Amino acid sequence: MTENNIILIGFMGAGKTTVGKEIAKSTKKQFIDTDDMIVKQMNLSINDIFERYGEQYFRSLETKLMENLSKSDVECVISCGGGMPLKEENRQLLKNIGTVVYLRTGVQAVMKRLKNDKTRPLLMGSKDEVKEKIKQMHKERDPIYKECADFIIETGKMSVSEVCDKILEL
Ligand code: S3P
Repeated sequence: MTENNIILIGFMGAGKTTVGKEIAKSTKKQFIDTDDMIVKQMNLSINDIFERYGEQYFRSLETKLMENLSKSDVECVISCGGGMPLKEENRQLLKNIGTVVYLRTGVQAVMKRLKNDKTRPLLMGSKDEVKEKIKQMHKERDPIYKECADFIIETGKMSVSEVCDKILEL
Protein backbone atom coordinates (compact mmCIF):
# COMPACT_ATOMS: atom_id res chain seq x y z
CA MET A 1 0.00 0.00 0.00
CA THR A 2 1.06 3.61 -0.38
CA GLU A 3 1.04 6.72 1.79
CA ASN A 4 -1.71 8.02 -0.50
CA ASN A 5 -4.17 5.82 1.33
CA ILE A 6 -6.44 7.63 3.74
CA ILE A 7 -7.38 5.76 6.89
CA LEU A 8 -10.22 6.98 9.06
CA ILE A 9 -10.35 6.04 12.72
CA GLY A 10 -12.56 7.17 15.58
CA PHE A 11 -15.33 6.21 17.93
CA MET A 12 -18.51 4.47 16.79
CA GLY A 13 -20.85 7.02 15.26
CA ALA A 14 -18.04 9.43 14.31
CA GLY A 15 -19.12 9.38 10.66
CA LYS A 16 -16.12 7.41 9.31
CA THR A 17 -18.18 5.51 6.73
CA THR A 18 -20.14 8.52 5.46
CA VAL A 19 -17.04 10.70 5.24
CA GLY A 20 -14.94 7.87 3.79
CA LYS A 21 -17.39 7.25 0.95
CA GLU A 22 -17.42 10.96 0.04
CA ILE A 23 -13.64 11.22 0.05
CA ALA A 24 -13.26 8.06 -2.01
CA LYS A 25 -15.69 9.52 -4.55
CA SER A 26 -13.89 12.82 -4.88
CA THR A 27 -10.38 11.33 -4.93
CA LYS A 28 -11.40 8.40 -7.13
CA LYS A 29 -9.87 5.95 -4.67
CA GLN A 30 -11.43 2.65 -3.73
CA PHE A 31 -13.59 2.74 -0.59
CA ILE A 32 -13.13 0.03 2.01
CA ASP A 33 -15.16 -0.34 5.18
CA THR A 34 -13.51 -2.90 7.45
CA ASP A 35 -16.79 -3.87 9.15
CA ASP A 36 -18.47 -4.45 5.79
CA MET A 37 -15.59 -6.59 4.58
CA ILE A 38 -15.70 -8.75 7.69
CA VAL A 39 -19.50 -9.08 7.46
CA LYS A 40 -19.18 -10.22 3.83
CA GLN A 41 -16.33 -12.59 4.59
CA MET A 42 -18.20 -14.24 7.48
CA ASN A 43 -21.64 -13.87 5.96
CA LEU A 44 -22.81 -12.82 9.44
CA SER A 45 -23.72 -9.48 11.02
CA ILE A 46 -21.30 -7.86 13.49
CA ASN A 47 -23.77 -8.70 16.28
CA ASP A 48 -23.79 -12.36 15.24
CA ILE A 49 -20.00 -12.55 15.00
CA PHE A 50 -19.66 -11.13 18.53
CA GLU A 51 -22.38 -13.41 19.85
CA ARG A 52 -21.13 -16.63 18.26
CA TYR A 53 -17.37 -16.16 18.38
CA GLY A 54 -16.72 -13.31 20.83
CA GLU A 55 -14.97 -9.96 20.59
CA GLN A 56 -11.42 -11.38 20.51
CA TYR A 57 -12.22 -13.41 17.43
CA PHE A 58 -13.64 -10.31 15.72
CA ARG A 59 -10.42 -8.45 16.64
CA SER A 60 -8.36 -11.22 15.04
CA LEU A 61 -10.42 -10.85 11.85
CA GLU A 62 -9.68 -7.11 11.89
CA THR A 63 -5.93 -7.77 12.17
CA LYS A 64 -5.99 -10.35 9.37
CA LEU A 65 -7.87 -7.93 7.15
CA MET A 66 -5.38 -5.11 7.76
CA GLU A 67 -2.49 -7.49 7.06
CA ASN A 68 -4.06 -8.38 3.74
CA LEU A 69 -4.76 -4.74 2.89
CA SER A 70 -1.15 -3.85 3.66
CA LYS A 71 -0.10 -6.15 0.80
CA SER A 72 -2.33 -4.50 -1.79
CA ASP A 73 -1.16 -1.55 -3.86
CA VAL A 74 -4.58 -0.19 -4.82
CA GLU A 75 -5.01 3.34 -3.48
CA CYS A 76 -7.94 3.51 -1.12
CA VAL A 77 -9.85 5.20 1.65
CA ILE A 78 -10.34 2.85 4.59
CA SER A 79 -13.02 3.38 7.21
CA CYS A 80 -11.98 1.33 10.25
CA GLY A 81 -14.24 -0.19 12.86
CA GLY A 82 -13.97 1.87 16.06
CA GLY A 83 -11.96 -0.78 17.87
CA MET A 84 -9.33 -1.33 15.17
CA PRO A 85 -6.62 0.87 16.75
CA LEU A 86 -6.95 -0.79 20.16
CA LYS A 87 -4.38 -3.45 19.35
CA GLU A 88 -0.79 -2.23 19.13
CA GLU A 89 -0.24 -4.55 16.18
CA ASN A 90 -3.13 -2.92 14.31
CA ARG A 91 -1.88 0.60 15.09
CA GLN A 92 1.45 -0.29 13.46
CA LEU A 93 -0.32 -1.73 10.43
CA LEU A 94 -2.51 1.38 10.07
CA LYS A 95 0.50 3.69 10.27
CA ASN A 96 2.35 1.64 7.66
CA ILE A 97 -0.59 1.50 5.31
CA GLY A 98 -1.38 5.20 4.96
CA THR A 99 -2.24 8.56 6.47
CA VAL A 100 -4.31 8.07 9.60
CA VAL A 101 -7.01 10.64 10.31
CA TYR A 102 -8.86 10.60 13.63
CA LEU A 103 -12.42 11.89 13.32
CA ARG A 104 -12.88 13.09 16.88
CA THR A 105 -16.35 13.44 18.40
CA GLY A 106 -17.51 14.35 21.88
CA VAL A 107 -19.43 11.96 24.13
CA GLN A 108 -22.68 13.90 23.74
CA ALA A 109 -22.59 13.77 19.94
CA VAL A 110 -21.94 10.03 20.01
CA MET A 111 -24.84 9.49 22.40
CA LYS A 112 -27.17 11.48 20.20
CA ARG A 113 -26.15 9.69 17.03
CA LEU A 114 -26.30 6.19 18.48
CA LYS A 115 -29.44 6.69 20.57
CA ASN A 116 -31.50 4.02 18.84
CA ASP A 117 -28.71 1.95 17.37
CA LYS A 118 -29.02 -1.81 17.58
CA THR A 119 -26.04 -2.77 15.44
CA ARG A 120 -23.19 -2.21 17.92
CA PRO A 121 -22.76 -5.20 20.23
CA LEU A 122 -20.57 -3.21 22.63
CA LEU A 123 -23.34 -0.68 23.19
CA MET A 124 -26.22 -2.89 24.26
CA GLY A 125 -28.21 -2.36 27.44
CA SER A 126 -30.48 0.21 29.05
CA LYS A 127 -30.20 3.87 28.11
CA ASP A 128 -28.20 4.62 31.26
CA GLU A 129 -25.91 1.64 30.78
CA VAL A 130 -25.18 2.64 27.20
CA LYS A 131 -24.48 6.20 28.33
CA GLU A 132 -21.98 4.94 30.92
CA LYS A 133 -20.34 2.59 28.41
CA ILE A 134 -19.91 5.37 25.86
CA LYS A 135 -18.40 7.68 28.49
CA GLN A 136 -16.01 5.02 29.73
CA MET A 137 -14.93 3.77 26.32
CA HIS A 138 -14.53 7.30 24.99
CA LYS A 139 -12.22 8.13 27.91
CA GLU A 140 -10.15 4.98 27.38
CA ARG A 141 -9.94 5.24 23.62
CA ASP A 142 -9.41 8.94 22.97
CA PRO A 143 -5.67 8.81 23.89
CA ILE A 144 -5.22 5.66 21.79
CA TYR A 145 -6.83 7.23 18.73
CA LYS A 146 -4.69 10.33 19.26
CA GLU A 147 -1.52 8.29 19.49
CA CYS A 148 -2.31 6.50 16.26
CA ALA A 149 -3.34 9.57 14.25
CA ASP A 150 -1.30 11.66 11.84
CA PHE A 151 -4.12 14.23 11.89
CA ILE A 152 -7.04 14.91 14.21
CA ILE A 153 -10.25 16.54 13.03
CA GLU A 154 -12.71 17.83 15.60
CA THR A 155 -15.93 16.99 13.80
CA GLY A 156 -18.23 18.50 16.47
CA LYS A 157 -19.82 21.39 14.60
CA MET A 158 -18.78 20.41 11.10
CA SER A 159 -20.95 19.03 8.31
CA VAL A 160 -19.89 15.93 6.38
CA SER A 161 -18.73 18.02 3.43
CA GLU A 162 -16.73 20.34 5.71
CA VAL A 163 -14.99 17.33 7.26
CA CYS A 164 -14.24 15.98 3.76
CA ASP A 165 -12.85 19.34 2.60
CA LYS A 166 -10.64 19.48 5.66
CA ILE A 167 -9.27 16.00 4.99
CA LEU A 168 -8.62 16.81 1.35
CA GLU A 169 -6.69 19.92 2.42
CA LEU A 170 -4.34 17.87 4.61
C1 S3P B 1 -16.62 -1.36 17.32
C2 S3P B 1 -17.03 -0.50 16.33
C3 S3P B 1 -17.90 -0.93 15.23
C4 S3P B 1 -17.71 -2.43 14.95
C5 S3P B 1 -17.91 -3.21 16.21
C6 S3P B 1 -16.93 -2.82 17.31
C7 S3P B 1 -15.79 -0.82 18.44
O1 S3P B 1 -17.60 -0.19 14.04
O2 S3P B 1 -16.43 -2.67 14.43
O3 S3P B 1 -19.22 -3.03 16.64
O4 S3P B 1 -15.20 -1.58 19.19
O5 S3P B 1 -15.71 0.43 18.53
P1 S3P B 1 -18.03 1.38 13.85
O6 S3P B 1 -16.98 2.21 14.50
O7 S3P B 1 -18.04 1.53 12.38
O8 S3P B 1 -19.35 1.55 14.47
